Formats: sequence, structure tokens, C-alpha cells
Amino acid sequence: MYADRVLSGMRPTGALHLGHYHGVLKNWVRLQHEHECLFFVADWHALTTHYDTPQVIEQNAWEMVIDWLAGGVDPAHATIFLQSKVPEHAELHLLLSMITPLGWLERVPTYKDQQEKLAEKDLSTYGFLGYPLLQAADILIYRANQVPVGEDQVPHIEFTREIARRFNHIFGREPGFEDKAEAAIKRLGSKRARLYRDLRARYLEHGDDQALESARALLEEVQNLNLSDRERLFGYLEGGGKVILAEPNALLTEASRMPGLDGQKMSKSYNNTISLREDEDSVVKKIRTMPTDPARVRRTDPGEPSRCPVWTFHQVYSSEPVRQWAEAGCRSAGIGCLECKQPVIDRVLEEQAPMRERARPYQEDPSLLRSIVADGCEKARALAAETMRDVREAMGLDYD
Ligand code: TRP
Ligand code: SF4
Repeated sequence: MYADRVLSGMRPTGALHLGHYHGVLKNWVRLQHEHECLFFVADWHALTTHYDTPQVIEQNAWEMVIDWLAGGVDPAHATIFLQSKVPEHAELHLLLSMITPLGWLERVPTYKDQQEKLAEKDLSTYGFLGYPLLQAADILIYRANQVPVGEDQVPHIEFTREIARRFNHIFGREPGFEDKAEAAIKRLGSKRARLYRDLRARYLEHGDDQALESARALLEEVQNLNLSDRERLFGYLEGGGKVILAEPNALLTEASRMPGLDGQKMSKSYNNTISLREDEDSVVKKIRTMPTDPARVRRTDPGEPSRCPVWTFHQVYSSEPVRQWAEAGCRSAGIGCLECKQPVIDRVLEEQAPMRERARPYQEDPSLLRSIVADGCEKARALAAETMRDVREAMGLDYD
């Protein structure tokens, strides 16, 4: 539980585009080789804002998973699952709701922002207010410590940390905690026990952070300790009770440098996207008709790349020599805009070819996709069940 576990989710809102690929997916693909990774479709989260269009959830969910696989997420390295197929998320959400102050939810910045942004929708619902708490449950149920998210999601991770802290504070104090912790210390063996006590005292009495770090490292090393004792001793270090829910960190995803066809950020709501597995013909057409520097009315008018959306594509896709060729050719009117766009078109198609290739088996045989996801759901449920056992016990619900 103390090694890195990465968890992230996406709402199924339709086909992913190159902005998602360059921002989020490439990052996931890298992480899956470095850490244990869990990636899930946040279909319940989609319902918080799209409860009036339930008929599109399923289609969007499967399409999105195909996009993940197309982008290089590999089920041999990452667990891929659907939120709604792990009902433990809902149970944890409910249990956490008992200790979640309304004010905390009302103060999460996305609450008011989104309500204003989606003013045409009635979002004065319980589910929408609880969006960050459901997200907290998604994270805490796997004791995930690294959560790759964009800047906008950072307040949700901070909120999750506060909920975990509050939960541990309220429920981490089992009866006889000190005695149990003392007994667990003895099980460390006399040398380690002495070291643990010494480090704990240095931290608690003198606020020595280095001592806290060393004591944690000591616990990570110990082999012969069961999970409850281990958690007790982690909790005891800081004076408090058991750490039942672990506080996660936001792993900030760098904002995508991928611009939209009009030079604004690529986003479905701006209608300026190229989807991940878009038809070749359509990609070619979209880039050919992309706006360019408005000052270049005629082929013979010189242009200025910094005023041109095509130039931002060159910055993502082109090598230095190609960029120099485009820049110089534009300013001298040595090249035409269609000519300038061609290397970009080639690179986008080249990037997409393996994605279409990877997606094909799943499109041809949806049962392949279903079985990957069923596998992932099963793995996720097993992990979620472990946490839920501890949570139920801590909340006095472990009786028949
Ligand atoms: N709220 C996230 C988003 O809109 C999606 C999400 C739901 C999520 N649950 C999560 C992300 C848990 C990370 C971890 O992007
Ligand atoms: Fe844009 Fe290239 Fe045309 Fe210059 S030549 S305006 S950079 S498309």
C-alpha cells in the first residue's frame, strides 16, 4: 500500500481528440510503465451533469476505452475498468457523506464555476454537489497516492486529502489503540523497536521531520508485520490513530500544447477538434481548411507565423528544420499556405495510423474489449473490497 499506485479517471463525454492525446493519454501511457496504474471510466460522474441523456453513456464509455487502447494504454500494464461496475465506490461515497461538511462541498471552486458555465442545465442537485466527494471515494478506495489530473482538478485532490484526514481523525481511533500500537512495536524486534521509539519521540517532541521520514522508511522495510499493525504504527508515529485512508497527491499533468484548428485550446465546445481516430480524409480536409494568418490574403502576401494557427501545429509536430522552412517561407511569401500545411498533415496522419491500427481488433470484435474491461473491473473490485473492509470496521459496520 505504500508503493506508488496511480489512479485516474475520465468522464465518457464522446470521442477523445488530439488534445486529450497530447495532454492526458501520453502521460498515462508513460506512467503505466513506471507504476501500478488504474484507469477508469467515470460514468457516474458523467451522469452528474448529463442525467438527461443516459442513452449515450454506454456508447461513449466503450468508445473512450477504445480510444485509450488506441492511444497506447496497455491492459497488460494498467487496470482498465468502469466506475459503475465497482459499486463499492458508491458505498464509500455514501459512508464518507456522513462526515462531509456541506460547506466544504459548496466551497469547491468547480461547483459554482460549472453551474455558471452550464447555466442551461439545472445543476442544483445533490449528485452534482457531491461530485468531488464521489471523486474522493474513487481515489481513497484504492489508496492511490498519485493522481494524474489537470490543473482544474487540483482542488478536488486537495478536498480528497481533507476528507481522508477527517476520516482518519474520527474513525482511526479504535478502542485500545495505544496498547495495540505498543504491542505492534514489540513485534518489530528489540533493535528496530528501540529505533522506532527514538525516531517517534524525536518527531513528536521536537518536530524533527527527518526522524518521521526515517521512521516511515523503517516501517516500509519490515517484512513480518501484518497490515493492521503496519497501519497502526504509521498512525502512531504522528501521535494519532490508524491511517485507514491514505492522502493522495495530485500529479499535475502539464497543460497540452495541442492547439485547436482555430488556434484556441482544442475543445469539443469550440468545435475545433481532430478526433483520435478520425478518418484520414476528414483530417486532410480539416487541416487544409484551417484558418491561416488573415494578412495573407494572396499567395504573394508575406505572412507572420505567430498570427497563424498552423504555426502552432508546426510547434507540436515539426522538426526544427521544417519549422525554419515554414517560418522563412511564410515571411518571404516563398511558400503557399497549402504547402506549409502539408508536413503537418503528414505528421498527424503518421501519428494516427498506429492508433487506428490498435483500435481495429476491438472494433471488429467488441467481445475483446468487454473482456479486458471485465478483467479490470474484477481486479479493481478486489482492491476496493480490502479498503471497504477496513472502512466498515472503523465505522462500526462489521457485524452480521
Ligand atoms: N473529475 C475528473 C475530470 O473531470 C474525472 C474523475 C472522476 C477523476 N474521478 C476521478 C480523475 C478520480 C482522477 C481521479 O477530469
Ligand atoms: Fe500560416 Fe504557414 Fe500560411 Fe504562414 S505560410 S500563414 S505559417 S499556413
